[in-house]
Amino acid sequence: MNVLGIGGSVHDFSCCLVVDGTVVVAIEEERLSRVKYHPLGRISTDQFRLRGIQYCLDAAGLTLDDVDQVVGNDLIFPAVLRGLPDVRSINHHLSHAASSFYLSPHAEAAVLVMDGFGSMADGRAETTSHFLAGDDGIRLLHRDTGAVVRKDQRLPFSWANFDFVEDSAGVLYSHVTDLIGFGEYEEGKTMGLAAYGKAGDAAELGHIVLVDDEGRIRFGRAERDALDAVHRAMMAAARTDADVFAVRAAFAAAVQSLLEEVVLRQARSIHERTGADALCVSGGVFMNCPANYRLVTEGPFREVFLHGACGDNGTAIGAAMHGYHTGSGLPRTPMTRPVTYTGRTYGEDDHVRALEKHPDRLVFRRSPDIAAETAEVLAAGGVVGWFQGGSEFGARALGNRSILADPRDPGIKDKLNLVVKGREAFRPFAPSVLFERQGEYYDITVESTHMCLNAMSRADGPPLPGVTHVDGSARIQSVRADVNPLYHRLISRFAELTGVGVVLNTSFNEREPIVETPEQAVDCFLRTDIDRLALGPFMVSKA
Ligand SMILES: [Fe+2]
Repeated sequence: MNVLGIGGSVHDFSCCLVVDGTVVVAIEEERLSRVKYHPLGRISTDQFRLRGIQYCLDAAGLTLDDVDQVVGNDLIFPAVLRGLPDVRSINHHLSHAASSFYLSPHAEAAVLVMDGFGSMADGRAETTSHFLAGDDGIRLLHRDTGAVVRKDQRLPFSWANFDFVEDSAGVLYSHVTDLIGFGEYEEGKTMGLAAYGKAGDAAELGHIVLVDDEGRIRFGRAERDALDAVHRAMMAAARTDADVFAVRAAFAAAVQSLLEEVVLRQARSIHERTGADALCVSGGVFMNCPANYRLVTEGPFREVFLHGACGDNGTAIGAAMHGYHTGSGLPRTPMTRPVTYTGRTYGEDDHVRALEKHPDRLVFRRSPDIAAETAEVLAAGGVVGWFQGGSEFGARALGNRSILADPRDPGIKDKLNLVVKGREAFRPFAPSVLFERQGEYYDITVESTHMCLNAMSRADGPPLPGVTHVDGSARIQSVRADVNPLYHRLISRFAELTGVGVVLNTSFNEREPIVETPEQAVDCFLRTDIDRLALGPFMVSKA
């Protein structure tokens, strides 16, 4: 049975093909359109037609006629689905829940979904959903909703007249992100900045936005106005750049602290409701790595399953898997391996073709052992663009489309920002660590497959300034030999050379979506001062 899943809402569109219950291929539209998040406001109408559909069909060797079911969710902007046959539209939070549960190793689990907002009905939108999932599917147990506020309440709802959804922790977090000067979809920057601030310095936030025992917040127009006024007053009192930075960081810390409290209370609430041992989570809120750390270390569940695409991008996988499991009638086998590298693979011909386009600018040769040679370049202080296999699904590069460097180097953050990234100095880089040696460096030994989980660095571990945040935390990726053998071998060789089983891993891109094709990798390499490119088996230098 072939099921095509379409994901997204008004941004983060994506496609996935599930064949007989297996995710064969999945891709985020931004990787193909090269427009970050592929949001409605930044794409042309001809970009409504998703290129990911053909990408998935080609990778699987199918045509649209071979597809038995097309499944999306009811928050997807309708024009995106135009031209597709009989799209079955499921509830938005259900598509998030399915993306987590069906990729998990659990036979039964509670499923907690939290995002900005999901499906709308009767002037309200879902903000948090509690599900119980098992052999008989995914059952909704409880739902929190918020009122949909229109800019002009006299006019009916349209996206042009949409203001915000009340009582949503995700919306509050986005609002503070905007308030402190970051852009749309830049909540990750707020998360990074929070470690620099003292939540107590913006304690008014906690007095204005109240959280109840179940983790529900009150955040309407009045609360928003009050928060904005406090922010304005604090900014007016700031005299120096350092003062301004401190105010921004304090607001980031305050909203981060509140979000963590909300997540923990919601987790306790769904635990009481279900009595389940395992929790699967999804929705954009769970892109928040410090909140996930507290959920894993302080939450009531014995096991927490996090996957790499909690945002609306992941709903393509959820929709397709839900379509398969409700349509096939066959029993489900829980996943035994993480679903991570879902992009199509490129052959050596593709690599060579991309390289031969620049005969005057590139020198390349086949490496006898690309993993070992890359590790040697890193240990000698080089920065390497690492392009292997199929691309990762989700916001994080996980060792197939990564820029790698030595995490021991105290100057590496500045170097990376200078040669390629150009990011704010407060934003941390992340480590990929050998799973079997994770306990030597970090305080948690649970697997963090998708780099969605923070850990604290061990005081008795080696100093790794390149990948350690100001508060001692790190957003870790656990690398297992059976999941990504080549990448695991690279880090193992780096460990032989340096004694450290950790490399710095940042996404392979320069202010753009992560590179998808060999051509894009070569272009990014040429545009930047990355030292080497490991493109499949080829080690590439600049001429
Ligand atoms: Fe969502």
